[in-house]
Amino acid sequence: MRPRALVTGAGARVGRATAIELARAGFDVGVHYNRSEGPAAETAALCREHGAHAWTVGGDLGTAEGCSAVVEATKTHWDSLHVLVNNASLFYPVAFGDITDAEWERMLAVNLLAPFRLSRDLLPLLTTADGSAVGAPDGQHGLVVHLCDIGADRPVSGHAHYSVSKAGLVMLVKAMAIELAPAIRTVGVSPGQVAWPPDYDADKRARLTRRIPLHRVGTPEDVGTLVRFLALEAHYLNGIVVPVDGGLACRY
Ligand SMILES: NC(=O)c1ccc[n+]([C@@H]2O[C@H](COP(=O)([O-])OP(=O)(O)OC[C@H]3O[C@@H](n4cnc5c(N)ncnc54)[C@H](OP(=O)(O)O)[C@@H]3O)[C@@H](O)[C@H]2O)c1
Repeated sequence: MRPRALVTGAGARVGRATAIELARAGFDVGVHYNRSEGPAAETAALCREHGAHAWTVGGDLGTAEGCSAVVEATKTHWDSLHVLVNNASLFYPVAFGDITDAEWERMLAVNLLAPFRLSRDLLPLLTTADGSAVGAPDGQHGLVVHLCDIGADRPVSGHAHYSVSKAGLVMLVKAMAIELAPAIRTVGVSPGQVAWPPDYDADKRARLTRRIPLHRVGTPEDVGTLVRFLALEAHYLNGIVVPVDGGLACRY
C-alpha cells in the first residue's frame, strides 16, 4: 500500500508543490481546494503522473461545513492517513484600526481553527495508519504538518490578524506534539519568502530580497522537499517549527 497524504490548499503555489513532491516520493494524495477547482484538478493530474492515486475535494475551511466536507471525503477515500499538511491560509493586509470582527474571526477560522478541526477529526485515520509504510519506526505513525510563518514571532505590519493566527498555529504544533505523540508527530514549517503575494510590486520584492541572507527568495518546492523529508526521514522531529527562509528569521 502506498502511504497517503492530504494537502489543503493544494491547487497552486506551496500546496501544489508539496502535493507533487509527496506523490513523487510514493504517496497517494488528497488535493484540497477552495476556489481553485481547475488548478486542483491539474495538481491531481500531475500527482498521477508520478503513479499516485490522487483525488480532489473542495471546501471553505472558514466554515465548519467546509472542514467536515474535507474530513468526510478523506474517510470515503481512505481508512487511514499518514500525513496531513495544513497549508491553506488567508493572507491580506488590513490596518490595525480597520480590522473588523468579521475579518478577525475569518482569518482565525481559516488559519487556526481549520487546522485544529482537521487534525482533531482525522485523528482516527492518522492513529490507525501503518507507520511502517512510510518508513517510520514503531509507535510513530501519523504526521501533521502545519504551515506557519516566520512572522509568527515578528509581526508583519498591517497583518495583525494574520500574525496572531500563525502565532497560534505555532502553539498548536507544540500542544499537539506533547499530547498526540507517540502515535502522531506534529511539526511546523515556517516559510520566509517562497512565493510572492501577487500584490507586491518589483520594488518591494527587490527590497525584501536584499534582506534575505541568501540574497534570493525560496520556492514552493523548497517547502515540498522539507515536507517530504519530515514525512520519510525526520522520524525524531516532533514539536519543532522549521524555518525555510534563507536565514531571514535571524535578522532583526
Ligand atoms: N508564500 C510565502 O512566501 C509564504 C510565507 C510565509 C508563510 N507561508 C505560508 O505557507 C502556506 C502556503 O503559502 P502560499 O503562499 O502558497 O499560500 P496562498 O497561495 O496564499 O494560499 C494557499 C491556498 O489557501 C487556500 N485558501 C484560502 N482561503 C481558504 C478557505 N477559506 N478555505 C480553504 N482554503 C482556502 C486557497 O485555496 P483556493 O485557491 O482553492 O481558494 C489558496 O490556494 C500558507 O499557510 C502561508 O501562510 C507562505
